[in-house]
Amino acid sequence: MLYPSLTANRKSQKGYHMNVKTKNGRQVVISKFNLADTESLADYFYHLSDESKQRYGPHPFDKKFISDLYSSQAGYMGYIARETGDDIIIAYSVIKLGFLPQDHDRLNSYGIIPDPETDATFAPSVADAWQSCGLGNMVFRFILSDLMPKGIRRIILWGGVQSTNDKAVGFYMKNGFRELGQFEHNGNNFDMMLEIIETATPTPPPVKPERSS
Ligand SMILES: CC(C)(COP(=O)(O)OP(=O)(O)OC[C@H]1O[C@@H](n2cnc3c(N)ncnc32)[C@H](O)[C@@H]1OP(=O)(O)O)[C@@H](O)C(=O)NCCC(=O)NCCS
Repeated sequence: MLYPSLTANRKSQKGYHMNVKTKNGRQVVISKFNLADTESLADYFYHLSDESKQRYGPHPFDKKFISDLYSSQAGYMGYIARETGDDIIIAYSVIKLGFLPQDHDRLNSYGIIPDPETDATFAPSVADAWQSCGLGNMVFRFILSDLMPKGIRRIILWGGVQSTNDKAVGFYMKNGFRELGQFEHNGNNFDMMLEIIETATPTPPPVKPERSS
């Protein structure tokens, strides 16, 4: 998938963030997770519906696990969204730079040679009440704008996606992911991957020289 260089995020004392408006007309701020958000993130997961929890579980969501994960410097990065002026988290995605060791052999079997420098592994989620409002897409754009300057060129799904998860499969297809193959784990799952081809920012057409009279 072709993506223009994305550099539109703002930096403030809160770090990089992006202000967006969702399809339901609400103002949302997307930012990177930091340890001060640990309690809100545990709360976010606690309030996900059973269906979403059954679809989404890249890691445990107790406060200790979250703070250990993000203080371990092991290449994990979190991304969150909040309604502007509110403290409640309404979307969370996790990125691991590189690939998951347990996914390595499966990826190999599709002819993919995992690359720790240019691959990233991705697991997105949006709070139930906010799903299908465009927020997943917007958070993903923000994530790309963070990953592309780091040299990431492929994004692999974290443990695949359940083939019955139409919303997520639709979301991945919309964002340019392609299916690599299928595997069985608590039902049928698709492995999917996005290859990013960065395009230069479009340059304005050359100015025509003025005709001399
Ligand atoms: C998957 C998920 C992250 C997508 O985020 P979202 O905010 O709901 O998605 P968006 O509203 O940004 O929609 C993005 C695209 O997904 C697809 N999509 C969204 N809702 C859909 C639905 N109900 N059915 C089918 N496709 C859907 C569409 O292609 C949509 O693009 P479009 O609106 O331009 O047509 C979110 O629905 C979610 O958290 N689901 C539960 C947890 C989960 O399954 N995580 C993934 C585990 S692998």
